[in-house]
Amino acid sequence: MTHKSNTRMPEDLELIAKYQPPIVITALGSPKPAIDVVHGYGGIVLADVVSLKLAHKAVDAGANGLACVSAGAGGHTGTLSPFAFVSAIRQFFDGLVVIGGGIADGFGVAGAIAAGADLVYMGTRFIATRESMAPDAYKQMLVDCSVEDLVISAGLTGTPASWLKPSLCNAGLDPENLPPTPERNYDANRSLKARRWVDTWTAGHGLGAIRSVVPLAEVVDGLEREHCAATLRLSALSARSQAAARVAAAA
Ligand SMILES: Cc1cc2nc3c(=O)[nH]c(=O)nc-3n(C[C@H](O)[C@H](O)[C@H](O)COP(=O)(O)O)c2cc1C
Repeated sequence: MTHKSNTRMPEDLELIAKYQPPIVITALGSPKPAIDVVHGYGGIVLADVVSLKLAHKAVDAGANGLACVSAGAGGHTGTLSPFAFVSAIRQFFDGLVVIGGGIADGFGVAGAIAAGADLVYMGTRFIATRESMAPDAYKQMLVDCSVEDLVISAGLTGTPASWLKPSLCNAGLDPENLPPTPERNYDANRSLKARRWVDTWTAGHGLGAIRSVVPLAEVVDGLEREHCAATLRLSALSARSQAAARVAAAA
């Protein structure tokens, strides 16, 4: 987290320099501080971005990849359509591109790749798995809720995030009257009435795909099956249009 309010940033960067992870993802600020360290040992930096302005800044700073956090994402969400976002980014950037936001099955993964992404982020879908360390009540809330139960508000962290309304109620907050946007502060040590992300829970639009808490392997098997079905669908369409083109050429 490279926002200046993260008082832990120097220690985070020291840890990165020590352990040299091959890929470092930055969020909520310019990737520059991480780039200086990570490029020093030959790693790559992906910058989370929610707008074209931030995407340009990240590319200018030397990011190797952009993660387009789009509408429908869990956590701090974007507002842009993933299709419009990746299309605009591909006009000035040919590095690694990730799409995140509401992708919860293999059809969504195939759609993102078809639209121009190399990779996807999936967050929400993996929370409701047996292996996830989220509290059981959080997992059950994902099963029970739909997109109608989400509210986007900047009132808790200073940046728009997608919250599960029942978790706000349980934490003593009124989802219809959330606090006005505070100053951005991502210092994990800051004390708050309800600890963000711990007492108040987030989800993206993909929660509609969650029907029960299952082992992770089941989610991954589903992703593979759905991705295959989606690519077969595209190949069948492509074969049909090629056949039509051949008929037209022969006529
Ligand atoms: C519970 C939760 C916690 C998250 N925490 C972070 C975080 O600490 N830093 C970050 O950059 N993104 C965080 N994200 C956002 C994810 O990196 C990703 O952009 C998002 O989950 C993609 O959308 P999806 O949840 O609809 O799949 C979080 C998302 C969720 C659901």
